[in-house]
Amino acid sequence: MAVLNVNIDHVATIRQARLADEPDPAWAAMECELAGANGITVHLRQDRRHINDRDVRVLKETVAGKFNLEMSLAEPIVKIAEQVVPDQVTLVPENRAELTTEGGLECAGNLKRLIYVVKRMHKKGILVSAFIAPDEKQILASAEAGCDAVELHTGFYANAKTDKTVEKALNELRDARDIAVAAGLIVHAGHGLTYRNIQPVARIEGLCEFNIGHSIVSRAVIVGMQKAVKEMRRLIEKL
Ligand code: PXP
Repeated sequence: MAVLNVNIDHVATIRQARLADEPDPAWAAMECELAGANGITVHLRQDRRHINDRDVRVLKETVAGKFNLEMSLAEPIVKIAEQVVPDQVTLVPENRAELTTEGGLECAGNLKRLIYVVKRMHKKGILVSAFIAPDEKQILASAEAGCDAVELHTGFYANAKTDKTVEKALNELRDARDIAVAAGLIVHAGHGLTYRNIQPVARIEGLCEFNIGHSIVSRAVIVGMQKAVKEMRRLIEKL
């Protein structure tokens, strides 16, 4: 069965909205693991808009399952990964103005830098995954760079509106899986996956790991709301 890593970036987004100390991503990570998450994913962005350096250090110490650090190829972030030593890094493109990671990593065009970063991660015993579009050129470049895995970008599938475009996107993921497996890569998937669209992707054999964030954090806010309000009501009534 495929494993689920929960991306908790948006727990930190709520904290940063007030520059406060709650909610703490480390506590959220523990709740995720208690509920059966196999791992925790965070993206340490160069602008530190949600997850910060302290979160990454604390999560390294507290996550019991896989700790997967999403990061760009930027040198200061690569150095932090070398110091923290997560179980896995997922290499992503990063554009300062974007709301979330937009496309996949351009592995073919950044091969020299990619090879260098992969070597440095391997020296520390860190597994390396590259977040890429389900595209043959990018898959083969990831393999050439020495990556252990690729995370296939499911955003195209998630954004597909008609049965025909959904089926086309699923076929692209299946084809990409075949190319990746033939190239010796482990295959992960993520981005834009929700409670409504996960099952057709989860049925694709050979996808070993899903990284899901926004939809799970969004649902947690809603399903936890009654309990949170009841607790506050009780404190007011207990005067
Ligand atoms: N995988 C990667 C590489 C990502 O960059 C993200 C978003 O941070 C995710 C998965 C999770 O995407 P979502 O929040 O849409 O579930």
